[in-house]
Amino acid sequence: MRWLFSLTVAVGAQALFEQTFRSSSVVVQPFTILERSPLYDPHNTNLFLICPNGQAVAEPGAAIYKSNGELVWADSSFGNCYDFNLQEYNGEQFLTLWVGAGSAAVGQQMGFGTVMLMNSNYELVMNVSAVNPEGTDLHEFNIVKPENKTVLVTAFHTIPMDLSSIGGPVDGWYSNGVIQEIDIATGDVLFNWTTYDHIPLSESYNNISLTGQGFEANNSFDAVHINSIDKDREGNYIISARHSQAIYKIAANGTILWRLGGKMSDFTAIGNDTEFHFQHHARWRLDESELSLFDDGAAVFISTVNVIDEPVATGKYLKVDQEKMTVELTKRFFPSPNSNYALAEGSVEPYGDTVLVGYGWVPWVEAYSFDTQELLFSAVIGPNNASLWDGGIGNYRAYQTSTLEFTGHPTQPPNVSVTGGDVYVSWNGATHVSSYTLFTGNSATNVSKKVARVPKSGFETKISAKGSQNFIAVAALAANGTTLGKSAVYKLSDGTIA
Ligand SMILES: *[C@@H]1O[C@H](CO)[C@@H](O)[C@H](O)[C@H]1NC(C)=O
Ligand SMILES: *[C@@H]1O[C@H](CO)[C@@H](O)[C@H](O)[C@H]1NC(C)=O
Ligand SMILES: *[C@@H]1O[C@H](CO)[C@@H](O)[C@H](O)[C@H]1NC(C)=O
Ligand SMILES: *[C@@H]1O[C@H](CO)[C@@H](O)[C@H](O)[C@H]1NC(C)=O
Ligand SMILES: *[C@@H]1O[C@H](CO)[C@@H](O)[C@H](O)[C@H]1NC(C)=O
Ligand SMILES: *[C@@H]1O[C@H](CO)[C@@H](O)[C@H](O)[C@H]1NC(C)=O
Ligand SMILES: *[C@@H]1O[C@H](CO)[C@@H](O)[C@H](O)[C@H]1NC(C)=O
Ligand SMILES: *[C@@H]1O[C@H](CO)[C@@H](O)[C@H](O)[C@H]1NC(C)=O
Ligand SMILES: *[C@@H]1O[C@H](CO)[C@@H](O)[C@H](O)[C@H]1NC(C)=O
Ligand SMILES: *[C@@H]1O[C@H](CO)[C@@H](O)[C@H](O)[C@H]1NC(C)=O
Ligand SMILES: *[C@@H]1O[C@H](CO)[C@@H](O)[C@H](O)[C@H]1NC(C)=O
Repeated sequence: MRWLFSLTVAVGAQALFEQTFRSSSVVVQPFTILERSPLYDPHNTNLFLICPNGQAVAEPGAAIYKSNGELVWADSSFGNCYDFNLQEYNGEQFLTLWVGAGSAAVGQQMGFGTVMLMNSNYELVMNVSAVNPEGTDLHEFNIVKPENKTVLVTAFHTIPMDLSSIGGPVDGWYSNGVIQEIDIATGDVLFNWTTYDHIPLSESYNNISLTGQGFEANNSFDAVHINSIDKDREGNYIISARHSQAIYKIAANGTILWRLGGKMSDFTAIGNDTEFHFQHHARWRLDESELSLFDDGAAVFISTVNVIDEPVATGKYLKVDQEKMTVELTKRFFPSPNSNYALAEGSVEPYGDTVLVGYGWVPWVEAYSFDTQELLFSAVIGPNNASLWDGGIGNYRAYQTSTLEFTGHPTQPPNVSVTGGDVYVSWNGATHVSSYTLFTGNSATNVSKKVARVPKSGFETKISAKGSQNFIAVAALAANGTTLGKSAVYKLSDGTIA
C-alpha cells in the first residue's frame, strides 16, 4: 500500500492539469463544477478549503475556491498539506493545516509533521505539534469546542512488539497509534493515549500475511490506524480507527467505554446500512445524539488485493442510543454524478442546512441538503478525468467557510502583469474584491487618472490598457466601492515596477 500515500512530485505532462496565471506565480489544480442546483449558494459566498495532492499534482499546496470554481487563494510554499480548515483559537480565526513529510519509508499512510496556524493575512503565526518523537501525524487537528484552547491530534510511534499471535514475528514492529490533547498556548499534553495499551491485535482487519508489515521497523504493523478524534461535553473521546473498522468511546481515564462497528461492536443495529468500512472523520452531531462519518467502503492492504465491502462511498449520520445501545442510519449522502468506493480519506461536515462531503481519495467535493439528502453541488478537484481518480489527485478532507464569516487580507498588494497592451491583475487571497479600477498617469508619482473600472472576472482579471499613459496602477474595490488595496505603479512599456 506504499503507493497509496503519494508524496512524489509529478513531472512533465501531468503539470498541464494545473492552472497558471500571468499576474501570479501560483500553480494550482482547477476546481471543476459538475452539477449545481440553482438554489445552491446563489451569491457565491461559499469558500472551499482544499489541499490537492497525489501523483498528478505537480505543486501540492493549499487552495481556496468559490462555488463557481473560481480560485481565491493558493500557496504551495509549504508543499504537501492535509486537513485544511478554518477554526477558532482564543477568540481569533485561524486557517489550520498539517504540513510535513509522509511516512513513505514506513509503508503507511501516516505523516511526520506539524500543524501550522495561519491568520487571516495568510501569515504563518504558530506551529502546534504532538509530543512524539516522529512529530504530528496528518490525520487530525481538531480544536476542542467551545473552549477553543486545546487541540486533539494524532501521532504514531514505531515500537517493538511480539506479533506472533497474528502470524508475525516475535521480535516484530508495531505502529503505535497515539492520541493527544494539547494545550495550544503551552504545548502541554493533557491527554495521551495509545492503541498499544488499549486495543488488542485481534481487533485488526490488517492481515499480516497479506501486507507483510511488522517485520522491519521501517514497515511496522499498522493494526489500528486512527484517523479522527472528537471530544464530547463530558470529556470522553471518540476515535475512528480505519484498520479495526470501529469507532471507540474512551473515558478521560483511558478506559474504552464502547466500540461501534468492527469485530467487537457493543451496539445492535436497527434497520439496514449502519455498518461502515475503513471509515473516516467520526464526529458527534445534533447535540451528541448522532455520529457523522465518511464510510469509504473499501481499502487496499496490498496493492494487488482490494478489500471492498461496499460498491460506493457515502457520508452517513448514525443515531447512537447509548442507553439502549442501538445504532440506526438516519441520513446517507450518495455521490453524483460519479459513484465509487474511496480507498482512503474523506469527510462529512454540516454547514447551515447543507452537508459537505469530501470523498478523499476520489477528489469529489459534494454538498447536499441536510433535510432531504438531495445533491445540490458537485465538483471535482482537477479536470473531470476519471483516470486521475485513483492516486492522481486526492484531498484528505473538504472543509468550507464563507465570505460572510471569513475575510482574507493578503499582506502583498494586488499583482499586475502587462502583456500585449492588456493589464492582468490578481490578488491572491483577497476574498472581497468585486471590481478593479485601472489608473494611469504620465509620471510615476501621479497615477490618478481613471481609465476603466471592470468587474473582477475570476482569480485573474484582464483590463484593456487602451487610453493609458506611461504609468499604470490598479485598485481593488469591494462591492460597496471601498478601495481594499492598490497595486504598485508599473511602467506600461515593459511591465516593470516603476
Ligand atoms: C507578480 O506578477 C509578476 C508578473 O508580472 C510575476 O512574475 C510574479 O511572480 C508575481 N508575484 C506573485 C507573488 O505572484
Ligand atoms: C527497511 O529496512 C531494511 C533493513 O532493515 C532495508 O533492507 C529496507 O530496504 C528498508 N526499506 C525501506 C522502504 O526503507
Ligand atoms: C512552522 O513549521 C514550518 C514547517 O516545519 C516552518 O517552515 C515554519 O518556520 C514554522 N513556523 C513557526 C512560526 O514556527
Ligand atoms: C469557539 O469557536 C467556535 C467556532 O468554531 C465559536 O462558535 C465559539 O463561540 C468559540 N468559543 C469561544 C469561547 O470563543
Ligand atoms: C504517551 O504514552 C506513551 C505510551 O504510554 C509514552 O511512551 C509516551 O511517552 C507518552 N507521551 C507523553 C507526552 O506523555
Ligand atoms: C490472511 O490472508 C491469508 C491469505 O489470503 C489467508 O489465508 C488468511 O486466512 C488471512 N488471515 C486472516 C486472519 O484473515
Ligand atoms: C474510568 O472511567 C470510567 C467512566 O468514567 C469508569 O466507569 C471506570 O470505572 C474508570 N476506570 C478506572 C480504572 O478508574
Ligand atoms: C433491508 O435490506 C433488505 C435487503 O436488501 C430489504 O429486504 C429490507 O426491506 C431492508 N429493510 C429496510 C427497513 O429498509
Ligand atoms: C486524463 O488523464 C490521463 C492521465 O492519467 C491523461 O493521460 C489523459 O490525457 C487525460 N485526458 C484528458 C482528456 O485530459
Ligand atoms: C496629476 O495628473 C492629472 C492628470 O492625469 C493632473 O490633472 C494633475 O494636475 C496632476 N497632479 C499633479 C500633482 O501633478
Ligand atoms: C465595504 O465592504 C468591505 C468589504 O466587504 C467592508 O470591509 C467595509 O466595511 C464596507 N464598508 C462600508 C462602509 O460598508
